[in-house]
Amino acid sequence: KKILYVASEAVPFIKTGGLADVVGSLPKCFPKEYFDVRVVIPKYACMKQEFKDRLHYITNFYMDLNWRQQYVGIFEMEYEGIKFYFIDNEEHFSGDKPYYGMPGDLEKFVFFSKAALSILPVINFRPDIIHCHDWQTGLIPVYLKERFQGSDFYRGIKSVMTIHNLKFQGVWDIKTVKSITGLSDYFFTPDKLEANKDANYLKGGLVYADAITTVSNTYAEEIKTPFYGEGLDGLMQARSNSLRGIVNGIDYAEYNPETDAMIAMNYNAKTFRKEKVKNKTALQEELGLEVNPKAMMLGVVSRLTDQKGFDLIAYMMDELCQDAIQLVVLGTGEEKYENMFRHFAWKYDKKVSANIYYSEAMSHKIYAAADAFLMPSLFEPCGLSQLMSLRYGTVPIVRETGGLKDTVQPYNEFEGTGTGFSFKNYNAHEMLNTIRYAERVYYDRKREWNKIVDRGMAQDYSWNNSAKQYEEMYTWLAGY
Ligand code: ADP
Ligand code: GLC
Repeated sequence: KKILYVASEAVPFIKTGGLADVVGSLPKCFPKEYFDVRVVIPKYACMKQEFKDRLHYITNFYMDLNWRQQYVGIFEMEYEGIKFYFIDNEEHFSGDKPYYGMPGDLEKFVFFSKAALSILPVINFRPDIIHCHDWQTGLIPVYLKERFQGSDFYRGIKSVMTIHNLKFQGVWDIKTVKSITGLSDYFFTPDKLEANKDANYLKGGLVYADAITTVSNTYAEEIKTPFYGEGLDGLMQARSNSLRGIVNGIDYAEYNPETDAMIAMNYNAKTFRKEKVKNKTALQEELGLEVNPKAMMLGVVSRLTDQKGFDLIAYMMDELCQDAIQLVVLGTGEEKYENMFRHFAWKYDKKVSANIYYSEAMSHKIYAAADAFLMPSLFEPCGLSQLMSLRYGTVPIVRETGGLKDTVQPYNEFEGTGTGFSFKNYNAHEMLNTIRYAERVYYDRKREWNKIVDRGMAQDYSWNNSAKQYEEMYTWLAGY
C-alpha cells in the first residue's frame, strides 16, 4: 500500500510541537514490504541548515491558484529509510518561523494543500491513502473530492484526517477563502466548510475525509462534548462512526536514557537508582540552582500556552516555592507565562530556573534530570512530554484529560500500582495537593517512589502498538 503523509512540520527538519514528532517518527514504523509511506512538508527557509544542504532538487512547475500561477518547487531527501518531499515557494515559506497565527498563514496552507496534491503525478507516486494532519492540511480531502476526482489519477484516493489539536482550525472569512481556494459556493454552507459564518479548513477536512482519527481515546470522546469540542462537537458526534482514537507513541531510539548523547549520565531501568541523580546535580550546576542531590526537582518542557495549565501553576507558585522543591522550566510562548516564570526565577533564584527558549538538548537534560514532570493541561489531545518522562524514569504529575488520562496511571498506595500522579478538576488547589502528595512519597517513602519509576520505565509507548492500529485502518480503507 502506498500512503502519503502531508503535514506542516516533521522532525528532524522543522518542529514547533508534538505534531512534528509524530509525523517524523510514525512513517518509519510500518513494515516496508507492505507499506510505502512518504511524507510531504513545506521547504521552510527556517529549516535547519544541515538539512537544507542535503536536499535534492527534483523539478518545478507552475500551479493555478488565486487567479495567478504560483511557483511549486519540489525537493527530496531520504531520511532513515523514508522519502520526504519538500514543497518550495519563497513567497510562502521564507519566514523565520513556520507560522505565526496570521492571515497570511491561511493562504500559505491553501497553496501547500493544493501543491501537495499537484506534485503527485510529477513525482509519479499515486497513494492509496493521503493521511492529513491538522488544519494546515484540512483542504486536501476537500480538493480530493472536488476537482481532483475528475481525473483518473486522483479518482479513488482515500483520505484520513488526524486531529492533533482541535483548537486550531484555520478560520477566515468566506469571501477571501472562496477567492484563494477557487472552491465554488457549493462548499461554503454550514454542513461543509462554513462554521459560524466563516470558512473553516479543518472542518472541511473533517467533513470530507474518509476516516478521522485523533491521538488518544479519551480525546476522541471529549471532543464530542461542548467543553472540548471547540464548536465542532456536533460534527464530531455526527461522524463518530468514522472517528477513532489512536494514542501516540514516541521514537524509542531517539528518547533512550541508555544511549542519549545529550545527557550527563546514561542509565536504564536497572541503574536509574544510582545514576539518574547525576543528571540532576549536573543540571543544578549548569542552571545555577542549589546543588543538592536530595532536592526533589520538578520539570516542565512545554509550549507556554493556556492549553498547558500554566494558570494553575501561576496561581500556586508562591505556595509551591515554600516547599522543598526545585522547578526547572523550558518553554516559549505567550508573553504573560514567559514573564511569570522569569519573575519567579528572579524571586526564588536557587529554586526556580526559567529557560525561555527552544532547545532539544536542554529538553533531554530535563527529562533525564527531573524527579517529576508537571503537566496540568486544560486539555491535551495526547501529549508526548509525559511519555518521554516515563521513558526517562521521571514521574508525571498530570491532569486527567485526553492522552494524559490514557497514558499515566495514577499511583494507588494501597494496591501498589500506578506510574504517576493525577488530579481531575482544573483547579489550582487540587493540583497543589497532588504535587504535595508526590512530595511526601518522594521524601518519606523513597522505595515506593522508585517502584513508581520502575513501573513507568516498564511501559511501552514506542510506536509498536499504535502503528498496528494505523495499519489496520489503512488496510480497511484501501480495501486490500
Ligand atoms: P504539544 O504538541 O501540544 O506542544 P506534546 O507534549 O505533544 O505537546 O509535544 C511537545 C514536544 O515539543 C515535545 O517533544 C517537547 O519535548 C517539545 N518541546 C516543547 N517545548 C520545547 C522547548 N522549549 N524546547 C525543546 N523542546 C520543546
Ligand atoms: C498536539 C497536541 C498534543 C499532541 C501532539 C501530537 O500538539 O497538543 O497533545 O501530543 O499534537 O499529536
